[in-house]
Amino acid sequence: MAAGPHILIFDSGVGGLTVLREARRQLAHARLTYVADNAGFPYGAWQEDALVAHVIALFERLVGELNPDICVIACNTASTLVLPALRARFSMPFVGTVPAIKPAAERTRSGLISVLATPGTVKRDYTGALIRDFAGHCEVTLVGAANLAALAEAKLAGEKVDPGMVRAEIEPAFREMDGRRTDHVVLACTHYPLLLDELAAAAPWDVAWIDPAAAIARRIGDVLADLKPGGALARAPGDAPGGAERALFTARRELAAPLRGALLGLGLEAGNLAPGPQGGAGAPQGPAGN
Ligand code: DGL
Repeated sequence: MAAGPHILIFDSGVGGLTVLREARRQLAHARLTYVADNAGFPYGAWQEDALVAHVIALFERLVGELNPDICVIACNTASTLVLPALRARFSMPFVGTVPAIKPAAERTRSGLISVLATPGTVKRDYTGALIRDFAGHCEVTLVGAANLAALAEAKLAGEKVDPGMVRAEIEPAFREMDGRRTDHVVLACTHYPLLLDELAAAAPWDVAWIDPAAAIARRIGDVLADLKPGGALARAPGDAPGGAERALFTARRELAAPLRGALLGLGLEAGNLAPGPQGGAGAPQGPAGN
């Protein structure tokens, strides 16, 4: 079987599957491993220093055990904070996911755009810099949604999503000013595209929802094209190419049957990351609060 590049796609939960889905579509030759740090979910509630240390420690294990050719941080909350430290620590390329403020600012007609993200992402300096660099001509509303990512997790686990909760989370993203209305909402958390139907149903008026997954998959393809054959893409001995693709979870708890089904639909067998050095599964402390 052909030895395509091994791509590790990482998120705090199931949100990164929206990126994996696109990577699957665009990069059919690649072998994908998905890692969900569900023991650490939600990342949106972590303090910054603790989250950096936690993600670096987890990647020490992931890189050692999985030997990926490239890592994709399919999580805005982590990417807007941890990418420089990951790139400094590990030699393989890291592709991140950051709020798609630039395309929203280029496409808006009303000049009113909103960024729907976790409470962590809206606070980041990185997000502020994107707004300064690319959206100076726009009125940008940042909305830190405390519960939307958990609602997306619940949906994939087969639970019913309460439309009232969705409405309450997205309401501040819809602004009216001098006869103009918000016309673009950036989905700056990879979980949110999983709720696209619910978001559209709860919206007070039609907007364009910007999901960056396709652009991220293209970026992965570009980075892979730049890696030299025989260089970063050489397989390590014993690293069998073309094996079953897996979705590994850090928390050792039973996954809901609908989630297992969704993973299988993406060609992924669910499993756990091997217990860490302290007997935990990679997230011994859990979220560190606000
Ligand atoms: N999927 C993650 C993101 O893109 C966040 C979910 C969480 O709070 O852990 O930001």
